Amino acid sequence: MGAEGDIFGEVKRYHLTTFGCQMNEHDSERMKGMLESLGYTEAPERAEADLILFNTCSIRESADSRFIAHLGEAKRLKREQPGRVVGVGGCWAQSVKEEVFARFPFVDVAFGPGQVHKLAEFLTSDSLTAQGYFEFEGFTGHLPARRTRPFQGWLQISVGCNCACSYCIVPSTRGREVSRPLAELVAEVEAMSADGVREVTLLGQNVNSYGRDLRIDGRPASFSELLQAVDAIEGIERIRYTSPHPKDMREDVVRAHAELRSLCEHIHLPLQSGSSRILKAMRRTYDRQRYLDRVALIREHVPDVALTTDIIVGFPGESEEDFAETLEVVEEVRYDSAFTFIFSPRRGTSAAELTEGLVPHPVKVQRMERLLEAVQRHARERAQRFVGRTMEVLVEGPSRTDPERMRGRTRHNKVVNFSGLATPGELTQVRIDGASSQTLSGEESLLARVAG
Ligand code: SAH
Ligand code: SF4
Ligand code: F3S
Repeated sequence: MGAEGDIFGEVKRYHLTTFGCQMNEHDSERMKGMLESLGYTEAPERAEADLILFNTCSIRESADSRFIAHLGEAKRLKREQPGRVVGVGGCWAQSVKEEVFARFPFVDVAFGPGQVHKLAEFLTSDSLTAQGYFEFEGFTGHLPARRTRPFQGWLQISVGCNCACSYCIVPSTRGREVSRPLAELVAEVEAMSADGVREVTLLGQNVNSYGRDLRIDGRPASFSELLQAVDAIEGIERIRYTSPHPKDMREDVVRAHAELRSLCEHIHLPLQSGSSRILKAMRRTYDRQRYLDRVALIREHVPDVALTTDIIVGFPGESEEDFAETLEVVEEVRYDSAFTFIFSPRRGTSAAELTEGLVPHPVKVQRMERLLEAVQRHARERAQRFVGRTMEVLVEGPSRTDPERMRGRTRHNKVVNFSGLATPGELTQVRIDGASSQTLSGEESLLARVAG
């Protein structure tokens, strides 16, 4: 307010709501960077914005309905002030394409994840007619970023996905897999480091297949090579990545966890189902044994690793025996944490066409409850191993439950609430004195602080 406007008047204000995964969070940081380079500033409330934006997700039906509920408010705000621009980007927009304008005529601009840069074109053009942009062409990684936390950065290593998991909408919303050149990624992380970033998270739908489509001196690049190159960059203290695919998780990447200083002791290895029969129907291209072999290899090289996963219950044809096999794998692996989902049929996916063996909703819910019981029990038990240890914590901000305390994350990706003097962005040592399934608690080790 009161800021100098450009020759057209007041400074324009945007409001952006992000749904979905870390890819979308990354894309949103880029959208914000791009808008701010166009002279827009962020409005704290949607009602105060000239430009109302949504970065959408369509992974499950619940994601669609959450977004549509928000869109209702945008409609009302636009009716009150028709000069407002309403924009819808991301995976949901891509999945419905031009249909968005028929269903929601108040939307001015819609664009898929590969066309974020077109938003700038639209905003700076004189045309007031609604526009949709749905090609697969750009990396949002090429746009300026406005990071939510100055010390944590995303690195988009590839876009798209060449897998064909039968339940999944992502290949149709993000297109074929394309890797960004290794040298370009290294330069980006060097710039991030110079800018104060200490923790970088490498993003791809299947990070292990990174580089297969690239050629360096005539040969493809590999994910482990990228990890090494990022580890060598001064100032980067922590590397994370998401997600690896169990079919492509090889020994070089597992070894990197043991050998590279900054690569964190956490691997998110999506299981989806513990039944080989269902895995086949899901087209995951690994079976139960191969998954368990990967886990054994990981634990052999990185015994203290934190393992997390994604599991879907109620896939069409999932019998009680199939589900029992999922529970068996969960009991065997003992995950540090897991995201659990009820199967949701998605338009255009082959699993949505299946008509046999559909699992009734109450059965899905009951399986979900049984699964959650096991997942939470292991999370609680596994977290106890940290009690009594002094662990490195990257401070993220004040604790959400007690503003007197701080909140940060261990290398194992466990949230820690602690008392101490450290400030956001600092790496400090915290002595852990309590653990629940979700969080750890502790006291900053002031001795380490004096020494450090
Ligand atoms: N590319 C990543 C993540 C994909 S989406 C990977 O393969 O690991 C994140 C998770 O959402 C998936 O791992 C899966 O567990 C879940 N998911 C995807 N499609 C789903 C659907 N149609 N119904 C329920 N869960 C789904
Ligand atoms: Fe979807 Fe499978 Fe690709 Fe993951 S690997 S994004 S679940 S198709
Ligand atoms: Fe992510 Fe949702 Fe798209 S999970 S890739 S934003 S469909």
